[in-house]
Amino acid sequence: MAKQDLREVINRQILSGHLVEVSQPVDVVHELASVAHAAEERLGVGTVFRNLGGYPDVSVLSGMFVTYQAAADALEVELSQLKRSILEALADPLAPSHHQKDALDREVFAGQDVDLQTVPIPTHAPRDAGPYVTAGIVASRDPETRRMNYSYHRMLRLDRNHLSIMINPGRHLDDYRLAAEGTDQSLPVAVFIGVHPAIMIAAAMRYPGDELEIAGRLLGEPIETVPCGQYDLRVPLFSEYTLKGSVDLAQRVVEGPMGEFSGLYGAKSEEYLLEIDSISHRPQPIYQTILPAGVEHKVIGASLPREPVLLKSALSVSPEVKDVYIPPYGSGLLAVVVFDPRYEGQAKNVGMAALAAYTTIKSVIVVNSDIDISKAEELFWAVLTRADLQGDLALLPRFLGHPMDPAAVRGLVTKSVIDATVLPGSPSLDRVAYEHPADLDRYFAAG
Ligand SMILES: Cc1cc2nc3c(=O)[nH]c(=O)nc-3n(C[C@H](O)[C@H](O)[C@H](O)COP(=O)(O)O)c2cc1C
Repeated sequence: MAKQDLREVINRQILSGHLVEVSQPVDVVHELASVAHAAEERLGVGTVFRNLGGYPDVSVLSGMFVTYQAAADALEVELSQLKRSILEALADPLAPSHHQKDALDREVFAGQDVDLQTVPIPTHAPRDAGPYVTAGIVASRDPETRRMNYSYHRMLRLDRNHLSIMINPGRHLDDYRLAAEGTDQSLPVAVFIGVHPAIMIAAAMRYPGDELEIAGRLLGEPIETVPCGQYDLRVPLFSEYTLKGSVDLAQRVVEGPMGEFSGLYGAKSEEYLLEIDSISHRPQPIYQTILPAGVEHKVIGASLPREPVLLKSALSVSPEVKDVYIPPYGSGLLAVVVFDPRYEGQAKNVGMAALAAYTTIKSVIVVNSDIDISKAEELFWAVLTRADLQGDLALLPRFLGHPMDPAAVRGLVTKSVIDATVLPGSPSLDRVAYEHPADLDRYFAAG
């Protein structure tokens, strides 16, 4: 089996307990999502559904990135090295390799045979408008530089051969749409679903080059790509599904609501229309989905792709910054920086650098390295016992924030940095610490 094949990763993750197979029959309308969500929330695992009503020989994967440990194992890096390895991949990208034609067996449906009903797109959250493609990565080409671009866009199935596609301002795909609008009727794209986790992370990053370069370095070998028939586009060789088509630049459709990473439903909105010309998939394909508003949505949408950027920015102020964390429970609005300051005020400078690194971050909390940032209660404890908000809280009113922040007014938010650190020698570092016996089980053994 090949290293770039998602199937190999799935097998490994099942063996290590990060993914659980579900062989009971499930309906893709709501039932699949409610089982996957319960598995995520209660068991901390992702799911591979093997028995889908109406879709013989197809599996659905949900929750590849339910925990950081699962992400690290999927990428075959130590958990402690996860962020640094993404940062290193950004600094030293590796170009993809090109096959002249498709090198894998694939079933292809084109023209009148295109039917999106044959793809097991789940209807997820209770009030979602319908079946949404949530883990689809859109391949597009910059009309000027001719470089490839890869990004996620939510897509609602409308009928046999149409999806809506949400293209937010500021995305590269939106730049290409604008560039094409004056001269062309449509913008060709290919949507691929079900790929190696390194490609998933790379496509979630804002990157001025071809995102597969980041994935290549993360994997340690060039990502193999294949061409897309009449379209001048390239997709990863091992993609499970590929939908080819074009965005109609003249039409808009209303779509939504859909659960968003804010934990709320994104409202109905006017989006673009994507017409699908062909659907291809590997034999016994694995369709991949990301639960809207679930943990994975936040980990892949807000945490993993942004932490390396924040880390780089904070490190530029002090090389002694130890870690950054964008906790999924903060919906991408909160960042934590781990830093032991030597001088008064230094932690706020570091916090400001992290805050400035990404527009969507609303609040940064800086803590000493004795705080276990994986625990929200430790963070609260640090803020309450080590910060005096009169002096340790910096408020920055009327900054551009996250477009989906429900507390924003006309897109503007008050940003903040909380310095919850103390200087070396502070009595606050002298915490009560019990030593736990290494052989604890012995104390609770029967008899
Ligand atoms: C699961 C997921 C869903 C996303 N949905 C959308 C979307 O519907 N519309 C959009 O414009 N961006 C969406 N994004 C964000 C972009 O895909 C992301 O910012 C990407 O890095 C844009 O890259 P680019 O502008 O460098 O091409 C989503 C991201 C993730 C991870």
